[in-house]
Amino acid sequence: MKPFTFHSAGSLIFGCGAVAQLEDVAQRLKAKRVLIITDTTLVRVGIVAKALAPLQAAGCTVEVFDGITPEPPLECIRAAATAAKAFRPDLLVGLGGGSNMDAAKLVAILLAHGGDALDWVGDSRIPGPVFPLVCIPTTAGTGSEVSAAAVFTDTTRKMKVSTLSPYLRPAYAIVDPLLTVGCPKQVTADSGIDALTHAIEAYTAVDQDEFLNRAGGATVYQGKNPMADAMAMQTVRLVGKFLKRAVDDGSDLEAREGMALAATYGGLAFANAGVALVHAMEYPVGGAVHVSHGAGNGLLLPFVMRYNVSVRSEAYAELGKEWGLSGAEEFIAAIEQLKKEIGIPLRLRDLGVTEDMLPGFAEKAFAIQRLMRVNPRFPNNAGEILGIYRAAL
Ligand SMILES: NC(=O)c1ccc[n+]([C@@H]2O[C@H](COP(=O)([O-])OP(=O)(O)OC[C@H]3O[C@@H](n4cnc5c(N)ncnc54)[C@H](O)[C@@H]3O)[C@@H](O)[C@H]2O)c1
Ligand SMILES: [Fe+2]
Repeated sequence: MKPFTFHSAGSLIFGCGAVAQLEDVAQRLKAKRVLIITDTTLVRVGIVAKALAPLQAAGCTVEVFDGITPEPPLECIRAAATAAKAFRPDLLVGLGGGSNMDAAKLVAILLAHGGDALDWVGDSRIPGPVFPLVCIPTTAGTGSEVSAAAVFTDTTRKMKVSTLSPYLRPAYAIVDPLLTVGCPKQVTADSGIDALTHAIEAYTAVDQDEFLNRAGGATVYQGKNPMADAMAMQTVRLVGKFLKRAVDDGSDLEAREGMALAATYGGLAFANAGVALVHAMEYPVGGAVHVSHGAGNGLLLPFVMRYNVSVRSEAYAELGKEWGLSGAEEFIAAIEQLKKEIGIPLRLRDLGVTEDMLPGFAEKAFAIQRLMRVNPRFPNNAGEILGIYRAAL
């Protein structure tokens, strides 16, 4: 076996009520001025108050920036950075779904290294540590609290883009399943299927040896490895058991806890092994039409699995066993069934995508070589990707 490394947030605190530990965390980090980066919904439903209280108990002066919107557009990141520069915090807290946590990560880059969010798009380009950061998820899906990625919408190119760097793993991740209890049905479904996508893409990532041979510069991803596999397997098991339950009854605490764990495991899996073609293909779709990252991924997932099945049927079958199934085809069919049950769109045309948009999408997705190189089947050209989009139309 080739050597591999495993990374997480600096510390990970998990469990119901864990948000109260923000008091200790702030003290350990010697924080005095804390900026919470979040959105207006989370202020309204009282989740921001749950983070404010322990910070105030720690004696911190706290300011709340609540201007982040989903799939955060560049303008939101710039506004958050401006607010941060004016307040001069010594700690950032990203509180919310992936959108808010990623916005906080981007602000952490800008405070430490200057420039604009667009300057930092790409892989392993950040020269050193970012501003001190704590991430607290309120959805169960993205795993951003333990990942090395930050994603936003480049409104100038109509494209979701990301920055990847080992420095983007937060100092602390606090995962409190109770914060996800009020998560709306559709957000629960979309973010939950994102966690499943992370696990499947990590578990079926290209083998490490081959990964190293593929073209491309430095990256935080490593390809398939045993630790990421273990995490991915747990994600699939938990999603199978709890996602539909969490969507059907948001107050089902056992299901919420299971999905919070699934999302964190999924984050750990993909942030070490990598995500691949599903994510690459979702980026142009998400930039062009109105769809959440999770729903876009969920839509594309079985189509990409069909493309990859010739080289990963054994791995799909192994994951399917976690759902009591035998064989890759059964697993793909079960995912299609789950999508129907939780309301994930089945076809690109349901989102307003038209045939003439597909060649442009395929070119953009193919250009994201850092994700292509993680995929077990390496697409030779944009035409192969176009074929998958056509199947999904
Ligand atoms: N950095 C990473 O590693 C990574 C990984 C996957 C996805 N992402 C990114 O994360 C974003 C998607 O994040 P998401 O799926 O968590 O959704 P989100 O952050 O976009 O949130 C969606 C909506 O749900 C609301 N919401 C969130 N939690 C709530 C709660 N507990 N109660 C009530 N409302 C709540 C928010 O206010 C928002 O309106 C995308 O931009 C995606 O590209 C990042
Ligand atoms: Fe994702």
